[in-house]
Amino acid sequence: MSAKIISGVEIAKQIRQELKDEVKELKDKHGVVPGLVTILVGENPASVSYVTAKQRTAHELGFHSIQDDQPEDISEDELLKLIDKYNNDESIHGILVQLPLPKHIDESKVLYAISPDKDVDGFHPVNVGKMVIGEPCFLPCTPHGILEMLIRADVETSGAEVVVVGRSNIVGKPIANLMLQKRPGGNATVTICHTRTRDMAFHTKRADILIVAAGRPKVITADMVKDGVVVIDVGVNRIGKTPEGKAILCGDVDFDAIKEKAAAITPVPGGVGPMTITMLMKNTVQAAKQFAGLV
Ligand code: GUN
Repeated sequence: MSAKIISGVEIAKQIRQELKDEVKELKDKHGVVPGLVTILVGENPASVSYVTAKQRTAHELGFHSIQDDQPEDISEDELLKLIDKYNNDESIHGILVQLPLPKHIDESKVLYAISPDKDVDGFHPVNVGKMVIGEPCFLPCTPHGILEMLIRADVETSGAEVVVVGRSNIVGKPIANLMLQKRPGGNATVTICHTRTRDMAFHTKRADILIVAAGRPKVITADMVKDGVVVIDVGVNRIGKTPEGKAILCGDVDFDAIKEKAAAITPVPGGVGPMTITMLMKNTVQAAKQFAGLV
């Protein structure tokens, strides 16, 4: 059996078309143009490529979008002042500071400085707290994208054994939380594995849905999953370059071997990545509507 490939590209395309229509209506009926600023500190190649993709998508959807590049040696104080400027800019509804930040900057301080109303990444503790208790808020983009993929690919989550590999604040912790909530894409029984988990394969073999955000290439092999599993691979690992200098990417799971056992699997690239960007756009449209008093 070869797995169904859950294409993030295709699902993201559908949602982007829905958003494009919504942006046009907001503009035509209410004179509202969603505004997004992406702040990039330094020149980390992965971050540059993520931020470029976010900006390209914002342009395609008709947003007012600003790419604000700052040097690696910007001080924490200067960065906090910049965030304050955008907090007070009425044309900007969403502020994203690309992570990771250089070591001399306290990441928490920066994330806490973003107004929760403009926190389209869903990283501010106010939004994290609301997410945990199931109140409406900006959901973090990657977990939100995973939920949307599972729902649109008709994967039954209610009662499912979900195993999450990775406990980051950006993916592991929030996706585990969202999948146990009483809502579409939730109602699962959730286990979180991490670097101190004693017997990883014991847990991953039990999974009906396996979500892997370990940050290391091919850590999940075919012998670690059961037949019929649904695999969501969040990893993006740069494992080399083509002769033309293009990055060669692979996920956190051994795609070629696991696709012969799984019922469904997301590819890398073209899986979770496009969904993350799309949910950022969705959150920004939501922020613009809230700012305009339309929701
Ligand atoms: N770095 C890796 N993923 C993300 C993300 O979703 N948001 C931000 N701001 N930085 C990231």
